[in-house]
Amino acid sequence: MNIQYLGHSCFLVQHEDTRVIIDPFLTHNPKAAMKAEDVQVDAVILTHGHGDHFGDALDIARKNDCPIVASYEICEYVNEQGLKSVSVGLGGSVKFDWGRVKQTLAFHGTGLELPDGRTINGGNPAGVLVTIGDKTFYHAGDTGLFGDMKLIGELNRLDAAALPIGDKFTMGPEDALVAATWLNAGLYIPMHYNTFPAIAQDGDQWVSNLAECGLRGAALKPGESVSV
Ligand code: NI
Ligand code: MN
Repeated sequence: MNIQYLGHSCFLVQHEDTRVIIDPFLTHNPKAAMKAEDVQVDAVILTHGHGDHFGDALDIARKNDCPIVASYEICEYVNEQGLKSVSVGLGGSVKFDWGRVKQTLAFHGTGLELPDGRTINGGNPAGVLVTIGDKTFYHAGDTGLFGDMKLIGELNRLDAAALPIGDKFTMGPEDALVAATWLNAGLYIPMHYNTFPAIAQDGDQWVSNLAECGLRGAALKPGESVSV
């Protein structure tokens, strides 16, 4: 599985012939590593509806004629726009011919921020376990630390996990380090930091701290990728 970091919480995940994008916040992200119109994917996966995650989801789904995989509430809005969606709820999973997406808990806000500036109910925020072939990537979404992350680590073999470290809106680096010790992932990738001054953090320092705990991390710069 190849995991390319496109900045903020956006990842392009490729395995075998499948490509999916998670939380495609590109156009209004000053650090984005790809233009929305260049994204070629089989699905758009959303953890929640905040603008820095919903981002270019509609345009990418329209251009690729692919579904948006998200909460029931976000999918209702997607359907109203004439686009395809696959809804999934906390603890539930959906299967595709290319793999599986399972929603996990996340403790965060629920708004769906629309392009016109309105905010409507976006359902529960989530993390996602994205399995393609024999590989699983855990994207924690925006969340604070919670004890059931231990269960996610116990019940799944995670090849890689992306954790927010920006603090303020999500876990900060210290709590993300605790999460990493619980998840048993093969590789940890920090996200949701340095996009804006309010979430400035040192990703390389976090990876060094992981190494002191015997854990492997990669602070990818936007555009960089890693294979797991
Ligand atoms: Ni958010
Ligand atoms: Mn966010």
